[in-house]
Amino acid sequence: MALVQRGQDGLLVREVLVDGADAHARDLGDVIRRQRGDAVSSSDTHGGVEDRGHSVARAALLGLTCHKSEQVYIIFLRQRQNVVFKRELTPASCARTVLFMSKFIKNLITGPTGNIGGLVVERLLARGERPRVFVRDADKAKARWGDRVDIAAGDLGDASSLRAALEGVDTLFLLTSHEHIAELDASAADVARDAGTRHVVKLSSIDASEGIGTGVWHARGEEAIRARGLQHTFVRSTGFMSNVLYWAHGIRAAGVVRSLTGDGKVPFVHPHDVADVSIAALDGKHMGEILPLTGPQALSYAEATSVLGAALNVTLRWEPEDEATMREKLRSWGHSPAMVDALISVDHGIAAGRLARVEPTVHRVLGRPPRDFQSWVHENLAAFLQAGMRAGDEPLRRSTSK
Ligand SMILES: NC(=O)c1ccc[n+]([C@@H]2O[C@H](COP(=O)([O-])OP(=O)(O)OC[C@H]3O[C@@H](n4cnc5c(N)ncnc54)[C@H](OP(=O)(O)O)[C@@H]3O)[C@@H](O)[C@H]2O)c1
Repeated sequence: MALVQRGQDGLLVREVLVDGADAHARDLGDVIRRQRGDAVSSSDTHGGVEDRGHSVARAALLGLTCHKSEQVYIIFLRQRQNVVFKRELTPASCARTVLFMSKFIKNLITGPTGNIGGLVVERLLARGERPRVFVRDADKAKARWGDRVDIAAGDLGDASSLRAALEGVDTLFLLTSHEHIAELDASAADVARDAGTRHVVKLSSIDASEGIGTGVWHARGEEAIRARGLQHTFVRSTGFMSNVLYWAHGIRAAGVVRSLTGDGKVPFVHPHDVADVSIAALDGKHMGEILPLTGPQALSYAEATSVLGAALNVTLRWEPEDEATMREKLRSWGHSPAMVDALISVDHGIAAGRLARVEPTVHRVLGRPPRDFQSWVHENLAAFLQAGMRAGDEPLRRSTSK
């Protein structure tokens, strides 16, 4: 179930898709019946649908759209692409209907143009929903999803834009990043409480339980959400397997991975598992829970490097890095001083063995084992090869000799 808002001919156009649950479909019937004083009768509402063999309660997917047509708004229900019911309404009644229907908005996804948020959106789209996405750049979102999503432009640092985007939203997927995590979470929590948002699913970090790295900020963000009395689920992820993409340059250039992590291990988690668990959380199955997510196996960076080397069929080596060089590298990648400190703190946490614990949560939530690192590597081999190179080509030695 989702609600889509989009501009058309410069006018507000909203579309409601009601998916599955009988209760929601009955609500939809009620909504339309409330409009009968304007244009639609109760029998029209039910008859229009049932005449074609679909009871309102059984209709799997209904849509409600307002279009401008020579000063008259036409409102229609449809099942998938088939129009099954159509009536003209006055602009005022259409607007009222739309307002009422806005309570059926299901999910607002923040961070949708990023790693995890993008995967969450793809999953919602794949099951027929049209999520609302909160983006800083509407054109970027439009280019990526066209009108398959409802685009709400704004910035998490601008509470009024989030307030508008949360209008009628049932569940907020909250993804905040970098050193502003705690403040942005607190501000979003204020807005969500005032907007009557039923449930906040926050992408958090497993480091929150250890008080290291970005986990310190995430813990404060979680606390702010709890303190506002919001129903919540905290998806506390360990390091994403996709962080290994940062190794690609060193691997392509010299066949080397360097880190501060020593022999410490980390059970990297596959981003798809983080997204799958986030979807389960958005569906309301884990209200009030903290979901610590890891992959199936803790690996040291040296072990992860050798998995990569085996998949690429080349010899790679892991070497310890010194802290000053690592700090400089992180700064050169554009990280702020606070973020550099946080990332260094995580590396020390790994080296000290504080982040090595494998959690059973992915299996418990999804009913299947978590994806392993070997799978992620095979899905992403191309990222570690230079253009035109194939695994086993020994390009790394060639590059090293430069
Ligand atoms: N990487 C890890 O190993 C790891 C592990 C555990 C937890 N986490 C947590 O996961 C989160 C990062 O997830 P990710 O990797 O999916 O993020 P990401 O790929 O870096 O994407 C960040 C997203 O947030 C959006 N965004 C940034 N600032 C914004 C603002 N002020 N207002 C609105 N949108 C904003 C970005 O939009 P634009 O397109 O406009 O930039 C983008 O869509 C962080 O909270 C991090 O602490 C990460």
